[in-house]
Amino acid sequence: MRKTLKILGVEFTCDESGLSLVEVKKNEIKIVANLLASQVKIHKKYGGVVPHLAAREHKKNLPYLFKKLKKEVKNLDFDFIAFSAGPGLPPALVEGKKFVQKLAKKYKKKLLPVNHLLAHIFISFLKENKIILPPTPAIALLVSGGHTEIFLIEGNFKKKFKIKMLGQTLDDAAGEAFDKVARMLGFPYPGGPEIEKIAKQAKSVNLKFPRPIIWQKNYNFSFSGLKTAVFYYLKNIKKIKKGLIASVAYEFQRAVFDVLLERTKRAIKEYNAKSFIIGGGVSANETLKEFFLKNLENVEIFWPAKNLSTDNALMIAIASLFYLKKGKKLKSPEKIDIDPNLKIDL
Ligand code: KG4
Ligand code: ZN
Repeated sequence: MRKTLKILGVEFTCDESGLSLVEVKKNEIKIVANLLASQVKIHKKYGGVVPHLAAREHKKNLPYLFKKLKKEVKNLDFDFIAFSAGPGLPPALVEGKKFVQKLAKKYKKKLLPVNHLLAHIFISFLKENKIILPPTPAIALLVSGGHTEIFLIEGNFKKKFKIKMLGQTLDDAAGEAFDKVARMLGFPYPGGPEIEKIAKQAKSVNLKFPRPIIWQKNYNFSFSGLKTAVFYYLKNIKKIKKGLIASVAYEFQRAVFDVLLERTKRAIKEYNAKSFIIGGGVSANETLKEFFLKNLENVEIFWPAKNLSTDNALMIAIASLFYLKKGKKLKSPEKIDIDPNLKIDL
C-alpha cells in the first residue's frame, strides 16, 4: 500500500502569509490545516501593498502561523516543505525564504520551490478533496493582482505535460486595473470585490469604455488604456452620484470581461481545447464566473473555489504534486532560491 504523503505548503509572495498541511493518499487530499494571516488592514491605509511592510508582516506572521499549526495538529509531521519561490515582491520573498530555510533545518526536511502563478492554476483541480485532472489540450487563464496571462497546456497531467504561455498583459494586470479604478471611485484596497459589489446595483447603463486591443489577433492584453478612459470620464463629471459609480463599475468590469472572454474563446477554438482552467484573485468574481459559464461551450471548466481564488498556502501544497510528477527534485535548505520574476517552470 502506498504511503501517505504529508506536505507543508507555505505562501508569502505578496500580502498574505499562509501555511497549509495536506495529506495525500493516491488521489485523496485531506486538508489538515489551511491557515492565512492577511495584511489587508495594514496596506489599506496606503491604497495598495507596500513591499517592506509586507516583508515585516511575513517575518512576524509566518512563525505565528506555525505556532498555531503546532497547537492545532497533534504530533505535527510532514515529509517536505513546498514554498512559493516567486514571482512576487522581493522583500516579501526574502523573508519567506529565511523562514522556510530555518524550518527545514530544524525539522531536517527538504524543500520544493513552486511557481505561485502555476499554483493558482492547479488549485482549480481540487474538487471535494479529490484532484480531478482536466482533459487536454487545455487553455488556462491566470488573472491576479500582478499578472494576466493565458497558457496552452498540452500532453497529459498524469505523466508528461507542457505549459506554454500564449500571451500576457503589456501593461497593467486585470486585478491591478480593478484596484486602480476602485481607488478612483473612492473604494479601499483591494478594489476587485468592491467593484463587483457596486456593479450589481447598476440599472440602465449607457456608457461605453474601450476594450483595449481586443481586435488584435494575438493573445496579449492591455488594461492601462481602459483605466485612463475611466479616469478622464470621471474628470469631466461635476458631481459623482452613487448611480453613476455603479454604472462606471459595471461598464469597466464588463470591458475587462469582454477582453478576457475573447482571448479565451479564440484560444479554445484555435487549439481545440477540451478544458478551460482559470485561477488568480480576479476569478473570485462571481459575475465573471456567470459570464464565462454562459459563454463557453464544449469545454470542461475548472474554476477554483471562491476562498481559494486569492492567495493561500493550500494551492502551493497542491501544485507541488505536479512538480513531483514532472520529476522535480526536493532541495536542501542551503540550495533553494527565490526569484521575483520567476518564469513558468513546468
Ligand atoms: O491572486 P491574488 O490574490 O494575488 C496576486 O497574486 O496578485 O489577486 C489579488 C487581486 C487583487 O487585484 C484583487 O482586487 C483581485 O485579485 N480580486 C478581485 C476580486 N477579488 C479579488 N477582482 C475582481 N473581483 C473580485 N471579486
Ligand atoms: Zn496570487
